[in-house]
Amino acid sequence: MSTSAIDAIRSQLLDRVQSSGTPREVLKAPELRDLYSQIGSLPAEERGAFGKAVNELKIALETAIQAREDEQANADVETIDVTAPWGVRGSHPELLPTQQGTQHPLTTELEVVIDIFTRMGFAAIESRQIDDDFHMFGALNFPDDHPARDGYDTFRTEEGFIPPAHTSTMQHRILKDGREKLENGESIAAISYGRVFRNEDVDATHEHTFYQVEGVFVSDSATLGDMLGTLRRFFEAYYQQELRIKTQPAYFPFVEPGLEFAIEKPAALGGKPGEWLEMLGCGMIHPNVLREAGIDPTKYRGFAWGGGVERLVMLKYGIEDLRHFESAKLPFLRKFA
Ligand code: PHE
Repeated sequence: MSTSAIDAIRSQLLDRVQSSGTPREVLKAPELRDLYSQIGSLPAEERGAFGKAVNELKIALETAIQAREDEQANADVETIDVTAPWGVRGSHPELLPTQQGTQHPLTTELEVVIDIFTRMGFAAIESRQIDDDFHMFGALNFPDDHPARDGYDTFRTEEGFIPPAHTSTMQHRILKDGREKLENGESIAAISYGRVFRNEDVDATHEHTFYQVEGVFVSDSATLGDMLGTLRRFFEAYYQQELRIKTQPAYFPFVEPGLEFAIEKPAALGGKPGEWLEMLGCGMIHPNVLREAGIDPTKYRGFAWGGGVERLVMLKYGIEDLRHFESAKLPFLRKFA
């Protein structure tokens, strides 16, 4: 066979390398095997040149194969298999998407809070994330233009709606919906939980977005003592230990008297005796708030409280910075998985 015949085979095999998904297989082509087997049967004077040509062909093929394989490897990296149900090149390719995600710690803890209160007989209602001036202020005995309105740093939409700055926006609805219960001799007992929003500067203890839980209880005989007992029970259940509590007067237009409720930081959670932590605002529901919801304040009495969820959780787990919760940082979030 002549070297020009080798050239013909060479261009055929190189074409095959370019079009094959498995280019290395081309080295096993029968044409190549035939060439090798011919070397030995050639006359001595032809053998050298022929052998050299076959050898060059082999080197050319190997070079082309290597280039083709590199090209394939690169193409592979860039290709996204849109039919794959999850990112096979992700950091945890062995996990399904549902296993890669974890429940947010605030959701988990909120479920614990809701569970404690529902076992105490409270209904649980999620609060709204967009509300109006009436539920934020008017129904809660904030007089028009009263400076207490400014204390809530409310955002407002162009249309005048308010992303609620506290879950107290739900009080009027809970009271109105519960009115009939009172008339039937039952009490109103509900908590409301959800996101609240304040237009304030963010730091380790302030966020523009956070969670609150609000409680409302009304009956014909509710007392401040009932309220303190309920709250104490709650905190003791949440932290799973006995706690000392104290209150101090505070002003909220929708309660009278209004109080700030504090617990002594438990030693088990790094507290020193006499280290008090304010946990929430509370008080006896103002007669104007009851009246606004159609409840006769001479017949019925109630108490309400509201406080932040993050603060509860931070104390429980010794989290030092409130901003972690909204940071979307997976190493933080996965610790609670
Ligand atoms: N809504 C008040 C706040 O966020 C807390 C509060 C709720 C106070 C209910 C009294 C009664 O500051």
